Amino acid sequence: MKYSIPKGTFDILPHEPKEEDWWRLSHHWEYLESVIRTVAHDFGFSEIRTPIFERSELFVRAVGEASDIVSKEMYTFEDRGGRSLTLRPEGTACVMRAFVEKNLHQLGGPHKYFYISPMFRYERPQAGRYRQHHQFGCEAIGIKSPEQDVEMIEMVCELFRRLGLKDLTVMVNSVGSADSRDTYREALRTFLEPQLASLSKDSQHRFEKNVLRILDSKDEGDQKILENAPLITDFLDEESKEHFDTVCTLLEKIGLNFIINPKLVRGLDYYNKTVFEITSSSLGAHNALGGGGRYDGMTKLFGGPDLPAVGFGSGLERILQTMMKHDIAFPLPKAPFVYLVPMGDAAHTFCFETLCQLRRNHIPAEMDFSGKKVKYGLQQADSLNAHYCVVIGDDELNTSIVKLKALATRTEEETSLSTLIETLKRSWNAHTLAAR
Ligand code: HAM
Repeated sequence: MKYSIPKGTFDILPHEPKEEDWWRLSHHWEYLESVIRTVAHDFGFSEIRTPIFERSELFVRAVGEASDIVSKEMYTFEDRGGRSLTLRPEGTACVMRAFVEKNLHQLGGPHKYFYISPMFRYERPQAGRYRQHHQFGCEAIGIKSPEQDVEMIEMVCELFRRLGLKDLTVMVNSVGSADSRDTYREALRTFLEPQLASLSKDSQHRFEKNVLRILDSKDEGDQKILENAPLITDFLDEESKEHFDTVCTLLEKIGLNFIINPKLVRGLDYYNKTVFEITSSSLGAHNALGGGGRYDGMTKLFGGPDLPAVGFGSGLERILQTMMKHDIAFPLPKAPFVYLVPMGDAAHTFCFETLCQLRRNHIPAEMDFSGKKVKYGLQQADSLNAHYCVVIGDDELNTSIVKLKALATRTEEETSLSTLIETLKRSWNAHTLAAR
């Protein structure tokens, strides 16, 4: 019986025959994750890791019962103790649960956390949409001033700049306070009600329970109807309006191009005040590279103090796919510095000892264990892109002289067996220094 991978998931492997799937190559993921970590640390965020599953109720309360995520997309199961658990569909609720549970607010701030984690959503799989995707997420807790919102937007844009991504659109909006949203919901319902029958089936379903999400509809007929719909920005309370104006002024001051999209509401119910999304014109229907916003008060909902918070999440799959579309060069996979090819039993043992010594000296090294002919070992060294290849047989053991063959230049240098490790150490140090 041959098993296949579950629908909507994918493997991240060191080899990928299909060019269109090269975004799945593991060294591309390693590179992206290393840039993410550097950016996160540059902005003062520390890593947080939470379990892959949580109590289902956590997401129901935070993300909202009427949201698509909770109503249709959660991977929920009962454990053997009869508890309802859910594979996390998003990271914000998990971070806030940990923050409140561990009373982290009692420690000195700033409370700025980041994560790179898999998320699980039972969605219809399509290009750019998976049932297991990976998010880089950031959450800053405790600061209500608009600089914190702008720091978040700047941070994700800085990540995209460092990765070389271009042609991105940054959209911002404010969804105001819970009260101003209630008033707006009513106004939107009053506007849409006479045209309810003309809305798409999806939007008709959303009318009662989640009317704001109709604004997100991709249906052309819905979009036409929405052209004259009331805008949430006209319903904002004074505090949210002032906050949003300052966010926009700060974004202008730091030279970050953005557009105000009054129809941007996002699919998770916990947002208030600022929301934002970054899209790429080179992705298809699912073009959001990242999004986030403010969610003041979630700590209180989870039984902690009432604290402001703001964050974002960005999908690693979509970032990598956009990088491929933009023909951005990735660093090459890590290669051995030395590849050892033994000839004969005595040389095998010698090479194995040398291999271990090299690695104990932090020098990336490989050896042909197969016992095949030298030609095979040389091919392996080439295909792994090794810097040096060293063939050792009885002759080398008897004369105590070996040749280091630099594969890129096809040049050779001789060295004594007794000083092989020292020679390679010096050469490795010079090599790493030059690469810096
Ligand atoms: P979200 O907009 O649901 O927000 O997801 C964030 C990002 O994850 C999206 O912009 C997209 O890049 C990626 N993404 C989402 N679903 C999928 C999927 N099925 N397949 C591939 N990529 C996907 C959140 O999850 C919030 N927790 C973000 C946040 C953090 N807000 C405040 N703090």
